[in-house]
Amino acid sequence: MKFVEGGELDMPQLAVVGSQSAGKSSVLENIVGRDFLPRGQGIVTRRPLVLQLIHTPLPPADMPQPGFAEYGQFLHTERRFTDFAEIRKEIEAETFRVAGQNKGISKLPISLRIYSPNVLDLTLVDLPGLTKIPVGDQPTDIERQIRNLVLDYISKPNCVILAVSAANVDLANSDSLKLARSVDPQGRRTIGVLTKLDLMDAGTNAVDILTGRVYPLKLGFIGVVNRSQQDINSERSMADTLAGEVEYFKTHPAYRNIAHKQGTKYLSKTLNQVLLNHIRDKLPDMKARLNTLMGQTQQELNSFGDEALFGEPHQMGSLVLRLMTQFARDFVASIDGTSLEIS
Ligand code: GDP
Ligand code: NA
Ligand code: MG
Repeated sequence: MKFVEGGELDMPQLAVVGSQSAGKSSVLENIVGRDFLPRGQGIVTRRPLVLQLIHTPLPPADMPQPGFAEYGQFLHTERRFTDFAEIRKEIEAETFRVAGQNKGISKLPISLRIYSPNVLDLTLVDLPGLTKIPVGDQPTDIERQIRNLVLDYISKPNCVILAVSAANVDLANSDSLKLARSVDPQGRRTIGVLTKLDLMDAGTNAVDILTGRVYPLKLGFIGVVNRSQQDINSERSMADTLAGEVEYFKTHPAYRNIAHKQGTKYLSKTLNQVLLNHIRDKLPDMKARLNTLMGQTQQELNSFGDEALFGEPHQMGSLVLRLMTQFARDFVASIDGTSLEIS
């Protein structure tokens, strides 16, 4: 049912913005808590990836391999993925299929849903990194093209922006903050994420940035430590990475005192709170839109005639309405906070 799946209702989304190799894909992967995104040096993310996380307590009854609680499903293929390494391969194959073999980019998004008992309901968008110089098959105006592609997502008022900057690059040169500011001048829907704290020069730290003394952002900056390239090569596990990150902040002399407000877990909690507030602010607007949509759907169904739809005369119209009603109910429940758990 297309109309209950985000797009037309304009549900809030979360998009990552930042220079190439700032750590965008790594941050998203950590938020999801699984290894499944292509990442690495140079341009790896070459198509937008629209990733819907859907919290489901139990796997579907017809799962081919019982015991798997999490699975992924793409829009472009029927296949259901229980192996996250296979999801990464599929993203890579789909990237090559549409964006070519040689560093080209494409605006056409890849859509992936992940069903899991271990995620919070969220839609995340992974985007190609901001870059300056064309390489491979990239056109001469690659900088502008990527910028426009990113702007397509982050200029929507419903988009919460994760502005990723690497701590080992001067914040004054941060492309992500610059671009985020151009669409969100008040900084109401931008969260600063500072990666690569572990790669800063010895004797320097990012405390001033993380405590908001360098660049003012209403929603603040959160520091993270993702896997290094060496960790990726040696296949360091997600659990180990996340545990290492917690340890890093707790034991670092400069970050010890602010450790409870740093790291991937705190970032996830903040994100959910921000999205929730965002929905709450938009609620009157969304209610109106939901009503219009329901009216339109009813009209459309009437004009089709039942038989033309599915050959199951009496059920279709009510099924659609039931789905929409359920959706609206879940939606309101989530606003009340009754169906949202933050762990
Ligand atoms: P993207 O291009 O912004 O999506 O960046 P990726 O997530 O693909 O990461 C680019 C490279 O930076 C990879 O080799 C990562 O291992 C490395 N990287 C990302 N974040 C960190 C970090 O916090 N610390 C370290 N040491 N390396 C990182
Ligand atoms: Na990269
Ligand atoms: Mg990437």
